[in-house]
Amino acid sequence: MKNIVVLVSGGGTNLQALIDAEKRGEIKGGKITCVISSKPDVYALERAKRNGISTRVIPRKEYADVASYTKAVTDALVEEKADLVVYAGFMTILDEQVVKAFPYKMMNVHPALIPSFCGKGFYGLHVHEAVLESGVKLTGATVHFVTEVCDGGPIILQGAVPVMNGDTPEILQKRVMEQAEWKLLPKAVSLFCEDRITIRDGKAFVD
Ligand code: GAR
Repeated sequence: MKNIVVLVSGGGTNLQALIDAEKRGEIKGGKITCVISSKPDVYALERAKRNGISTRVIPRKEYADVASYTKAVTDALVEEKADLVVYAGFMTILDEQVVKAFPYKMMNVHPALIPSFCGKGFYGLHVHEAVLESGVKLTGATVHFVTEVCDGGPIILQGAVPVMNGDTPEILQKRVMEQAEWKLLPKAVSLFCEDRITIRDGKAFVD
């Protein structure tokens, strides 16, 4: 069984999707063993506690810079013996220390079709605001490995979601979550735990 550690910063609906999938037996070969939050008092922590999952809070505000914060998170992940680290609405940037410690062992869910609407500043509702501003008719979600490049690691799974007339960022966010994120993230996690993802020439392939 692989130890899955989930990093969160907010409401935790993607964490909930993982918990529900695990309960249904859909995470084959893995178990969520710890949830780490960059903020205290977020609802994601409540979701973990209700489901008997151990939690840790490593507040970003208590660290002077990215390097010292990354070290604290990396140390915690090593202590937790993480086999897979999942960024599920984790809104804090970590530097290359954690990538070196967990190469191709960290994945992130991003609420758009990478390489569009991604990178620095594109997180949460801002992504959907930018999508609506641009006028594109299709958006979606991407699950990818985390590397040093923000939102630039090998793509594991993607799903497309239509943009509709009259969408607000909130309405679009909900559709992207329901139709893409909450399905793709548990699927990608299970594929990883079943050793079905390989990296060739810097790209991820599901075998
Ligand atoms: C999700 O839409 C996730 O894809 C996004 O934040 C939301 C968190 O919701 N993540 C990013 O934008 C990261 N770049 P949740 O806390 O309910 O899972």
